[in-house]
Formats: sequence, structure tokens, C-alpha cells
Amino acid sequence: MTSPSKTIKVNDIELVRINPSHAHVLAALHQDGFASPWTAQAFFDLLSKATVAGWIATKSEPIGFILIQTTAEESEILTLAVASSHRRCGFARKLVAQALSESRGNSVATLHLKVAEDNTAAIALYKAAGFAPSGHRPNYYARTSKAVDAILMAKSLSP
Ligand SMILES: CC(C)(COP(=O)(O)OP(=O)(O)OC[C@H]1O[C@@H](n2cnc3c(N)ncnc32)[C@H](O)[C@@H]1OP(=O)(O)O)[C@@H](O)C(=O)NCCC(=O)NCCS
Repeated sequence: MTSPSKTIKVNDIELVRINPSHAHVLAALHQDGFASPWTAQAFFDLLSKATVAGWIATKSEPIGFILIQTTAEESEILTLAVASSHRRCGFARKLVAQALSESRGNSVATLHLKVAEDNTAAIALYKAAGFAPSGHRPNYYARTSKAVDAILMAKSLSP
């Protein structure tokens, strides 16, 4: 039987600009995506900064979100998560496209991100969106067994 959640199509969703009142929703989505999730308080503190912006993909329920931070001409994807019940439907692609569009609109030169080297899904997503490796941070992400390196990736937005 098909899961009802999967009946939500990427073109049906709304992208809503995130504000601090979304902190608890973001924490719940983050918990679904990460072994060491950020707390609602951490999201509230981040969302209170003028440099941080984000979008939540929603239909009848929250599906996923992306947060970016912009300083001068550089932006960074701080985090991105899609509910496990809605993955592989194009929602993350749409959220990344929104972050790219907003960054271009703000004359940002480069969009950066960090991703764990064992996160094959996210690396494939970012490569498909045109990001290329730009650096490496050893032992950046804690894991129960052994720390994992971060791959830095970047996409130039210059015309
Ligand atoms: C990574 C993540 C955000 C992807 O979200 P998603 O909505 O499932 O991704 P999309 O459906 O938009 O996928 C777009 C493309 O990314 C790539 N991709 C996504 N998931 C993939 C997977 N599990 N394996 C291989 N490629 C994958 C594919 O190229 C895919 O295009 P395709 O489906 O046409 O082949 C999601 O798996 C997630 O929330 N993971 C946990 C949190 C996380 O790792 N966040 C990123 C931190 S940097």
C-alpha cells in the first residue's frame, strides 16, 4: 500500500519563510534527520539573527526545511532536512533551489556548505545542484564509533 505522505507532490507544496515561531517544528524535522539534532532553543537563537533565513516546505504538514546564513557576499547552508516519510520526492532539490535563488537575488557570490563524508544522499543532492568540493575538515562530525570528516562544497553564483 502506498503511504499517504508520498501522495504529496513537489509542485503542490508551499515554501514558507521561516521565523522564530517555527523553532519547534524545525527541531522535530531535524530529529528525524540527524543523530545529534539541534534543540528548539538552538533554532530559536539562530532564527533571531538577521543574517539567518530559511524556508519550510509545507502542505498539510511540515515536510522539510533549509536554513542559510549570509554575511557580505558569502552564504552558507546551515542545515537542511526532509522528513524521512517524504524523501526522494524532490523536496530537498526544491529547497536548495530556493536558497540559490534567494542568494542570487541578494548578489551573493558563492553559496557554501559542509557535509559529512558518509552522507551519500546529501553529497549526491549537492553535486546534482552544481556544488563542487572546495575543502575538507578532518574529524568534524562526532559519531559513536569514529569521528567523520566534513567535505566543504561551494557553488559560484556569479553570472
Ligand atoms: C539529504 C536529504 C535532505 C535529501 O532530501 P530528499 O528530499 O530526499 O532529496 P530529493 O528527493 O530532492 O533528491 C534530489 C536528488 O538528490 C540525490 N539524492 C537524494 N537522496 C539520495 C539518496 N538517498 N541516494 C542517492 N542520491 C540521492 C539524487 O540525485 C536526487 O535526484 P533523483 O531522485 O532524481 O535521483 C534527506 O535525505 C535528509 O533529510 N537526510 C537527513 C538530513 C541530511 O543529511 N541533511 C543534509 C545535511 S548536509
